[in-house]
Amino acid sequence: MKSIFALSCLIPTVFSAPASNSQKAYSRIPCQKGAIASCPHKTIIVSNNPSHKDYADFTSIQSAILSLPHDHSSATILIRAGNYTEQLNVTRPGPLTLLGETSNPLGASQNQVNVFWSAANNGTYPDNAFTSVLTVAPTQNASLTGAGPTGWPVPADTPFGNTNFRVYNVDFRNVFSEYSAGPALAVSVSYANTGFYYSGFYSYQDTVYVGKLGNSYFYSSIIAGQTDFLYGFGTAWLQSSSLQLRSCGGGVTAWKGSNTTYENKFGVYIVDSNVKAANSSIATKIDGKCALGRPWNSQHRSIFARTYEDASIISSGYINWFVNGVGRYEEGITLQAEFETYGPGWNKTGREAGGVDTVLNQTLWAEYDAPEKVFQYGYEDGRFGNVGWIDWKPWV
Ligand SMILES: *[C@@H]1O[C@H](CO)[C@@H](O)[C@H](O)[C@H]1NC(C)=O
Ligand SMILES: *[C@@H]1O[C@H](CO)[C@@H](O)[C@H](O)[C@H]1NC(C)=O
Ligand SMILES: *[C@@H]1O[C@H](CO)[C@@H](O)[C@H](O)[C@H]1NC(C)=O
Ligand SMILES: *[C@@H]1O[C@H](CO)[C@@H](O)[C@H](O)[C@H]1NC(C)=O
Ligand SMILES: *[C@@H]1O[C@H](CO)[C@@H](O)[C@H](O)[C@H]1NC(C)=O
Ligand SMILES: *[C@@H]1O[C@H](CO)[C@@H](O)[C@H](O)[C@H]1NC(C)=O
Ligand SMILES: *[C@@H]1O[C@H](CO)[C@@H](O)[C@H](O)[C@H]1NC(C)=O
Ligand SMILES: *[C@@H]1O[C@H](CO)[C@@H](O)[C@H](O)[C@H]1NC(C)=O
Repeated sequence: MKSIFALSCLIPTVFSAPASNSQKAYSRIPCQKGAIASCPHKTIIVSNNPSHKDYADFTSIQSAILSLPHDHSSATILIRAGNYTEQLNVTRPGPLTLLGETSNPLGASQNQVNVFWSAANNGTYPDNAFTSVLTVAPTQNASLTGAGPTGWPVPADTPFGNTNFRVYNVDFRNVFSEYSAGPALAVSVSYANTGFYYSGFYSYQDTVYVGKLGNSYFYSSIIAGQTDFLYGFGTAWLQSSSLQLRSCGGGVTAWKGSNTTYENKFGVYIVDSNVKAANSSIATKIDGKCALGRPWNSQHRSIFARTYEDASIISSGYINWFVNGVGRYEEGITLQAEFETYGPGWNKTGREAGGVDTVLNQTLWAEYDAPEKVFQYGYEDGRFGNVGWIDWKPWV
C-alpha cells in the first residue's frame, strides 16, 4: 500500500525526466518498487486498475507491446501490480524489458503481477504454440512445434526475432486445468534470446517450451508442472531456480535434438537449483515416482548439475520413452545426465540399474559448465558465447 502511494506521488516526474536518463545506468529495483522517476526514460506504464487511468499508458500488456515499433530500438514496460488475462506475443527484434511491480524484486514467490491464459492443445488447436501465455518468436511459423523428429519446418527466410528480451518479477499462469490435459504452455521461445529473472511459470503440461533457435536463461525463477514441463529444441539454462512437481507424468525434461552443420549444444541445463514436490500433500502421493526426463528424440540432451532432488524422484533418475514398443534412448547419443546432484532423490544404485542416466565427472561437465559454453549464435554460424543478453547481476 505504501509503495502504491509513493508511486502515485511520483508520477509527474516521469514526464520531466531528463533525456540523458536513457544513457544512465539505472536500477530496476526502485522502479519496480514504485519510484517511477528511477525507471528508464520513456518507460511505458501498464495498469488495469481504474484508479491509475490518468497516467497508465495502457490497460493491457499486449497493447503496450503492439505500440512499439518493429525495429531495433530498446523499450521498457512497467506492469503495475494486478492480474491480467491475455496472451502476449513479442515479434519485434529490439531489446524489450518487462518489469513487474513488486515490493519484493529479489524473489519470485511473492510476485504481484500475474498473466493468465487458459488453453490446452487437447485436440482443439492445430499446434501447441496456440496455447502459450507468452510467445517470443519472429513469426507464428517459427513458433510452431510440429511433429516428427525435426518438428515444424521453419521457412529458410525467417529472420531472427528478439535479440534481448527480459522479464523481471512476472508470473505466467496457464490455468486450463489442475492436471495434464494436453500441452498448455506458459512460455514459448523460438528464434529469440530471452532472460527471465525472479519470474514464475505455472501449468501442468509442457509449461516451458524453448523451441527452434530459442535461447532462454532463467534466474531465481519458479517453474511448476507435471508432464514434460521443460521441453523443446533450443537451449535453456536454469540458474538457482526451483522446479515444482505438481504430480508426475512423462519427465521433467523432454528435449528434441537437431542435426546442424555446426556442433550444437542444444539442450536444457538445470544448475544450482532444486526439484521438489510443489507442497507436502502432493509429496506423499508422488514419493519415488517422478522422472527427471525422457528422450523426446534420441538426441535429447539435459543435465541437472549441483541440484537438490527431493524424494519424489524415481530411483532410475531418468526414464526411457517407448513408442510402439521401441525405446527412444540410444546409448552414446542420448545425454540424460546429472553432475553432483544430491538429496533424497539421488540413488546411485538406482541410476546404475536404470541404465538411462549418465553421471558426469568434472571433465565431462566442464564441456557445458557455463552459459557461454552452451548458448550459440545458431542463426549465424553456431559460434558459442551468445550471452550478451544475459543479466549476470539481476539483484542490482
Ligand atoms: C490475482 O490472482 C491471484 C492468483 O490466482 C489471486 O490469489 C488474487 O486474489 C488475484 N488478485 C486479484 C486482485 O484479483
Ligand atoms: C478439451 O477441453 C475442453 C475443455 O475442458 C473440453 O470441452 C473438450 O471436450 C476437450 N476436448 C477433447 C478432445 O478432449
Ligand atoms: C499470439 O499468438 C498465438 C499463436 O500464434 C495466436 O493464436 C494469438 O492470437 C496471438 N495473440 C495475440 C494477442 O497476438
Ligand atoms: C508457414 O510455413 C509453411 C511451411 O513451411 C508455409 O507453407 C507457409 O506459407 C508459412 N506461412 C507463413 C505465413 O509464412
Ligand atoms: C498441492 O499441489 C497440488 C498440485 O498443484 C494442488 O492440486 C493442491 O491443491 C496443492 N495443495 C495445497 C494444500 O496447496
Ligand atoms: C540426425 O542424423 C542421424 C544420423 O544420420 C539420424 O539418425 C537422426 O535421425 C538425425 N536426427 C534428426 C533429428 O534429424
Ligand atoms: C535405490 O535404488 C535401488 C535399485 O533400484 C532400490 O532397490 C532401492 O530401494 C532404492 N533406494 C531408495 C532409498 O529408494
Ligand atoms: C571422466 O569420464 C570419462 C568417460 O567415462 C573418462 O573417459 C574420463 O577418464 C573421466 N575423467 C576423469 C578425470 O575421471
